[in-house]
Amino acid sequence: MRVVVTGAAQGIGEAVSRSLAASGHRVFLADIQSTKVASVADSIGMECCTVDISSDRAVQAMYEKVTASWGWFDALVNVAGIDAPFETPEETSIERWQQLIDVNLTGTWRCISGALPTLKERGDSRVVSIASICGVVPTPGVSVAYVASKAGIVGLTMGLAAELEPYGIRVNAIAPGATGTTGNPMTEEEEQRYLESQPLGFGGPEPVAEAVGYLLGSGGAWVSGAVMNVSGGYWRGR
Ligand SMILES: NC(=O)c1ccc[n+]([C@@H]2O[C@H](COP(=O)([O-])OP(=O)(O)OC[C@H]3O[C@@H](n4cnc5c(N)ncnc54)[C@H](O)[C@@H]3O)[C@@H](O)[C@H]2O)c1
Repeated sequence: MRVVVTGAAQGIGEAVSRSLAASGHRVFLADIQSTKVASVADSIGMECCTVDISSDRAVQAMYEKVTASWGWFDALVNVAGIDAPFETPEETSIERWQQLIDVNLTGTWRCISGALPTLKERGDSRVVSIASICGVVPTPGVSVAYVASKAGIVGLTMGLAAELEPYGIRVNAIAPGATGTTGNPMTEEEEQRYLESQPLGFGGPEPVAEAVGYLLGSGGAWVSGAVMNVSGGYWRGR
């Protein structure tokens, strides 16, 4: 497949890009960090561009670049996102709320929306978005704005899976637990709290990358509207 991956400069997005490229997919890497994304793309012989998913113009420019290089693509993997320091619900300002929703949820929707004309034309195309286990299972110690942004991705996935089925577009989400090695570094206390509810420990980004590979593969053709928990068995509150 020809796959656009956002958030590809590091962490889960980098692992997804490397794993898809190693499996024979063509990958167009996009990220707000220009130098880093170029270096990852170079190392796997793939193309890339800079994008800020919170900007309409930047996302439009990303698709212009992809189209100029490839003509078309048949999958979009939404990994780009931001974390938030923990704040209690009372401490959470409207500004923080808006920032998280703008980047994580509206940014994901903006990327999907811009891809739809191409994905509809292709048929048997795929959208995979990285949500979070905290968007499906109560997870203490996480900003409610972050949780809402990730639960929003789950809702978006459900709505789109239903609406895009007639066009053959499969739309799924992955809900990772704490990878332990990507994203904002955790305090010892946070690590301990995760380990209490994540019995399989920290898995790094690779299991998430492999789940993306499955959803883009032949088995994934029979999967739409799913949220895959790739979360070290996270159980709290279930
Ligand atoms: N780390 C975890 O344990 C974990 C768990 C569950 C979900 N997630 C989600 O997985 C995704 C990737 O997380 P990660 O751990 O690799 O984090 P990360 O911070 O290492 O990577 C996020 C990437 O997104 C990019 N990005 C941020 N804002 C952007 C924007 N406006 N436009 C374009 N690119 C932007 C960053 O530059 C970075 O390369 C995020 O959406 C995160 O919420 C992470």
